[in-house]
Amino acid sequence: MTISDDALRAAQAVNAERLWGRLMRMAEFGARPDGGVDRPCLSAEDQNARAELIGWAEARGYQVSVDRAANLFIRRAGRRDGPAILTGSHMDSQPKGGRFDGIGGVLGGLEALDAISEAGLETDRAIEVVAFTNEEGGRFSPGCTGSMSWSGARDPASFDDLEDENGARYADALNETLSKAPELATRPLGDAPAAYVELHIEQGPVLEEKALQIAAVTGIQGVRWYDVEITGDTAHAGTTPLALRRDAVQAMHRAIAALNALMADPDDVVRFTVGRIEVEPNSPNAVADKARFTIDFRHPDRAVLEQRGNAVEEAVRKAAEPCRAEVRPSLFSDPTHFPEPIVAIIEQAARDLDFSVMRLPSGAFHDALFASQICPTAMIFVPSRNGLSHHPDEYTAPEHMAAGTQVLAATLVDLANGNATV
Ligand code: GLV
Ligand code: MN
Ligand code: MN
Repeated sequence: MTISDDALRAAQAVNAERLWGRLMRMAEFGARPDGGVDRPCLSAEDQNARAELIGWAEARGYQVSVDRAANLFIRRAGRRDGPAILTGSHMDSQPKGGRFDGIGGVLGGLEALDAISEAGLETDRAIEVVAFTNEEGGRFSPGCTGSMSWSGARDPASFDDLEDENGARYADALNETLSKAPELATRPLGDAPAAYVELHIEQGPVLEEKALQIAAVTGIQGVRWYDVEITGDTAHAGTTPLALRRDAVQAMHRAIAALNALMADPDDVVRFTVGRIEVEPNSPNAVADKARFTIDFRHPDRAVLEQRGNAVEEAVRKAAEPCRAEVRPSLFSDPTHFPEPIVAIIEQAARDLDFSVMRLPSGAFHDALFASQICPTAMIFVPSRNGLSHHPDEYTAPEHMAAGTQVLAATLVDLANGNATV
């Protein structure tokens, strides 16, 4: 046994029913008729979910604060000042999202704080839970604007003019959300923690297939996002000969075909997605003069990410001719490898608590990607039923959520007390 007695006691104090009750309560904010969740970042649903979380935290006497990226922090004080141990995730969801992606890590963090309190423990360092703003990028693209602003990976002002599909500005939505909780203490961006550990559902099939309870996550594959805008000419669908058209939809079709060729991979490691398409004027009997689409391209190998990613613009431009194409990169993150010591601490904590565990890289990106640029970072995964995520049927069993939270609570205690060093 390498975890401390205190860590064990914290893990044993995790209350699986309370955690599940809070998960199901949060799923009411943005609930979809099909059982999923649609909680766009900085929307009324997100604001109401935040208010609920703040209420739970304040009822326990934790200190709640917010930074100007609307990242929300819940602090359980330590015996001494100085950088905290941070855990958490995000509260926004995909439009056709589920009840666990992101929110599981926030509520697992809160449950860990409550378990540590109920076990009667003090810790040297403070432990904080964070709910990062806009991890998903489903409303304002790119994702992870909260954790990028916080970690210094990007200038927060560079996100101000992002617009959602209704033309709402990110900066305005941020201010509106901040104005809903004016009583909260504010804190500066940054404030690097001593370590960051994020609990998350796996969002893939591996743990379930292997009938394992926990993964200690080794890193996150690289990702590049682009916004493409193709401009042609609108015209009458019934009268304009095809040869005379500059049809933006046809150009987009050729561009996506060219990208499929560029991204072809017999080993099926490349991830390439066009997930959003917008057309103007969007009328059945008018040739489109605008077509916009997004590209999400991921790979664990930096060289592949560079080579193929750097070829995207040229491939799109050529294929779109005679229409004009603009390709704007919106996100570029290298593949990330979490440091061995912190991955090993999580793996060992899982073993000591008698959970089955493996190591696993993450195909999805997470706020941990940006945390890892400023402090030792790792993640804990728990199984996803049928490997489903970004899907209304996303499900992780109560006992799996509780197991992940027990590993989290133990890890946080030992990091906060210096029993585990990273
Ligand atoms: C995160 O939601 C991702 O798309 O990987
Ligand atoms: Mn997530
Ligand atoms: Mn997600």
